[in-house]
Amino acid sequence: MRLEWPLNQTTYLVNGEIRSWSGPAQKILSPIHLRTGDSVEPCLLGSVPSLSAEAAGDALQAAVAAYDSGRGPWPTMAVAERISCVEHFTRLVTEKRHEVIRLIMWEIAKTLADATKEFDRTMDYIRDTLEALKELDRAASRFEIKEGIIAQIRRSPLGVVLCMGPYNYPLNETFATLIPALVMGNTCLLKPPRFGVLLYGPMLEAFQKAFPPGVVNVIYGDGQTIVGPIMQTGQIDVLAFIGSSRVADVLKKAHPHPHRLRAILGMGAKNAAIVLPDANLNLAVKECLTGSLSYNGQRCTALKILFVHKSIADRFVEKFTSELSQMICGMPWQDKVQITPLPNEEHCDYMEELVADATAKGARIASAGLVRNRSFFQPAVLYPALLTMRICQEEQFGPVVPVVPFDSLDLPINWIRESNFGQQVSLFGTDANVMSVLIDPMVNQVCRVNINSQCQRGPDLFPFTGRKGSAEGTLSVSDALYQFSIRTLVATKENAENKALLKQIVHDHKSNFLSTDYIF
Ligand code: G3H
Repeated sequence: MRLEWPLNQTTYLVNGEIRSWSGPAQKILSPIHLRTGDSVEPCLLGSVPSLSAEAAGDALQAAVAAYDSGRGPWPTMAVAERISCVEHFTRLVTEKRHEVIRLIMWEIAKTLADATKEFDRTMDYIRDTLEALKELDRAASRFEIKEGIIAQIRRSPLGVVLCMGPYNYPLNETFATLIPALVMGNTCLLKPPRFGVLLYGPMLEAFQKAFPPGVVNVIYGDGQTIVGPIMQTGQIDVLAFIGSSRVADVLKKAHPHPHRLRAILGMGAKNAAIVLPDANLNLAVKECLTGSLSYNGQRCTALKILFVHKSIADRFVEKFTSELSQMICGMPWQDKVQITPLPNEEHCDYMEELVADATAKGARIASAGLVRNRSFFQPAVLYPALLTMRICQEEQFGPVVPVVPFDSLDLPINWIRESNFGQQVSLFGTDANVMSVLIDPMVNQVCRVNINSQCQRGPDLFPFTGRKGSAEGTLSVSDALYQFSIRTLVATKENAENKALLKQIVHDHKSNFLSTDYIF
């Protein structure tokens, strides 16, 4: 599984050119440490360019020029042609599958199985997106006549999109906005996340070969140095950002005309599980374990607080910790490994702080004590957790699991109502009456209620969004196409002259918008 490191990437993509950068570079350290003699150090994987604001600004100008106020070849291109560019790109990227999977493992310590799933799921997502777009285009390949007006109604692009994905799904969540933005005719500026950045190196050439110049531009560097100034220009039409609400706020505020900026945001979440007294305990434990700890709890959809009814809480914790002790900790490429290092030592320091706060306030570590070694943090179960503890208030995004015992359902319900987040909830129980009493108010607090199952994003054909501080906009294979476009129509009064004009335009294939071509 070794890579040929250091991978010192000195290139970035602007206006269809792979440019060289000889300025400062940003070191990329792996969460994985290597032993050399007596010393154990994070593996230095390589570096990426730390672009200046001017260099990143050139990339923005390339995207602006390629869009050309909607007159560029890409936004005016026929949908079928854009689809074939994305198909070409998918073929080229698929050739890099092994390299990208290895980089995901080394850069963010995702297990081999999950890194493979991330790559394959992303390619499926692209294929499904193209199918959904064909359907959308087929439905729009006709004229409508209402009240004496003939119109053709389609979806048009919005402009220049800034795409920034998160470190936990550096490929999937970035492409889940980038690809729909592109196929709808927008031009893009892509900034990879801080961790999970080297994997974009092998893809630069694919972007260059598959898309016309300026349609995709890939920039690297410090967010404050390059992204702030880009937002301040006011030339970004859509911000597609998955990350913290703090950064989302900063970026939105930097835009001089916030009302012109459309934002598609995936931000924090603190999804709760509520385990009722009559829940199937084995099932609840199994789902809560994977729900809270797959990829070390570093999923926005992870279960981050478990409310368990007092009558079964002790048994739940006993079973949970016993199954947790069977989980294999180790390196991402190890067979059946489930728990791997966190991205850096600071993240482990934060986990320790949360545990220290909770134990000082009366919780005990119900799992096998506190085990931490550099970037590795063994999952810790805190029980009984109180709502006054930081772990019940902050999004831990890591392997610390608070179990809060409750007597009355008012406790979890009020906690969810008052939470700043509103993504999903998991309810565990078997009584139809009690479950329905919970489901109906919950659907107005969060955007997905999972019954006897952990929280999750997929299937990608289902809508994924959140209320309050968790999200803006909805993503799914088909929803994303809507998010990155706007309904637009060409209309005329129904008379002989106008009909003849439309007929000629369509017959002679003079317009890509006014067209009845059907994509097979
Ligand atoms: O981090 C948020 C991801 O979109 C969650 O996706 O539930 O499929 O792991 P997942």
